[in-house]
Amino acid sequence: MKYKSQKVAYWFFALSMLLIVLQITYGFIMGFAHMGYDGLHEIIPFNVARATHNNLLVVWLLSGFMGAAYYIIPEESQNELVSVKLAYVQLITLALVGVTAVIGFHFNWWEGRKFLEIPRPLDYLVVINVLTFLGIILVTLFKGKKQSTTAMVLTMGLVFAALLYLPGMIWFDSQAMDSFFRWWVVHLWVEGVWELIMGGILAFLLIKLTGVDREVIEKWLYVIVGLTFLSGILGTGHHYYYIGAPEYWLIIGGIFSALEPLAFLAMALFALHMYRKGGKKHPNKIAIFWTLGSAIVSFVGAGLLGLAHTLPAVNMYTHGTLVTAMHGHLAFWGAYGMIVFAMIAYALPQLTGRKLFNNPMGLYAFWLSLIGMVGMTVAFGVAGVAQVYLERKMGLDFMVAQIEIEVHFFVLILCATMFATGVGLFIANFLKYGQPNDEAIGQENDDFGSLETSD
Ligand code: HEM
Ligand code: HEM
Ligand SMILES: [Fe+2]
Repeated sequence: MKYKSQKVAYWFFALSMLLIVLQITYGFIMGFAHMGYDGLHEIIPFNVARATHNNLLVVWLLSGFMGAAYYIIPEESQNELVSVKLAYVQLITLALVGVTAVIGFHFNWWEGRKFLEIPRPLDYLVVINVLTFLGIILVTLFKGKKQSTTAMVLTMGLVFAALLYLPGMIWFDSQAMDSFFRWWVVHLWVEGVWELIMGGILAFLLIKLTGVDREVIEKWLYVIVGLTFLSGILGTGHHYYYIGAPEYWLIIGGIFSALEPLAFLAMALFALHMYRKGGKKHPNKIAIFWTLGSAIVSFVGAGLLGLAHTLPAVNMYTHGTLVTAMHGHLAFWGAYGMIVFAMIAYALPQLTGRKLFNNPMGLYAFWLSLIGMVGMTVAFGVAGVAQVYLERKMGLDFMVAQIEIEVHFFVLILCATMFATGVGLFIANFLKYGQPNDEAIGQENDDFGSLETSD
């Protein structure tokens, strides 16, 4: 690492790893419940498990993004973070708000709107926390020597993500209105501004890992940002088909959301093209795996599997079924989970000065988690299609259909075990690296070809 203050990033990554373990645990609780083994129901009913699973996902990803920003912004702007102390306070308060929310869910303290379940008082604390984070990032960036396109796109994504949290805090008496604005948060995050965060991290990693000129990489970044906004904003319409919004959303949502895969395709082509263009390869191969993997898997999970149910005539049947969960898992994992893992895989050797990359554990972590998640996606898909036919075509009662599809969750649990083993190995590697080391400060660890790899 070049700047001492980048060390803060490590602790955000560590929080991220801790929370993903918890998230996966609640995933298993739901997986078993779907199979008919709902023994924990009295203590952790399904709705509590799902709110916990979804919110932990958002918090571990945000913690990963914040860690990435604390690592990237000093380096790109050539400036130490303006206040390391405040960054640690922000880390601790983020963890405290997250833990309070999760405990609250178990005592029925929640708002009941998927992904926005966090109760209102905690929302205000989230706002203060994120403002602190943005303050540190913005002052560091603009007091720095340079404001690169990569840093600007990443920061823009983070600022817009904070702003877009607010529509979810407006109070409505009408459920249709509430639902309408809930999508400004959920959809415009994952299919809008989070893509800028992903694009910024991806560009940074490609600059570091492929050795291709910054100018070339940043030119592509503009294309991705353009495609994202062109399709993603009006693409929100794919959530307005059947919630009581005006009928014109059928056509607007249909057309624009069908264009959304282009942004993800551009991201995948961008990454692959830069990788092939880069003559020299960075010795940290596993970081390259995660980086390219994220760009490709997001195209499949978000682009293709999103497209699969985005037209009104299809969505009429699949809306809110396990087909949605099929897409949700691979999209979130590919686009945002894997880019956070890519950032960690790149940053750990830099932060600790230990070059433990390319060991078998790291490779198994990548392949087991990827194959496991693809398997889970297939299992959700099969269960989802069966659910659509039984419930929506044949008119079976919701719970009667759920019992019929229990059998598919056996495969889900098998694949989830494989996925969790992969994540477990990644975390074991994380722990093996140990904590950041002051001796690593000022070292240039991107020296192509001169680094050795070891176990
Ligand atoms: C061992 C791993 C996991 C298991 C067993 C698991 C299982 C589940 C189950 C059973 C549901 C509820 C589906 C329903 O509504 O009936 C769910 C929801 C969800 N999970 Fe997971 N999950 C796991 C890991 C993950 C990971 C790593 C991510 C993200 C990267 C993720 C993202 C989601 C999302 C976004 C939803 C909500 C889906 C929707 O909106 O319908 N899960 N998960
Ligand atoms: C990385 C990007 C993406 C992520 C993380 C993501 C994740 C999700 C999640 C979690 C849901 C369930 C939301 C809820 O019910 O509250 C969802 C729904 C949906 N997504 Fe995506 N998505 C992404 C990109 C896309 C794209 C590019 C498309 C279209 C091409 C798309 C089409 C849809 C549709 C149509 C629904 C509604 C499903 C329903 O009616 O139940 N998504 N997505
Ligand atoms: Fe959407």
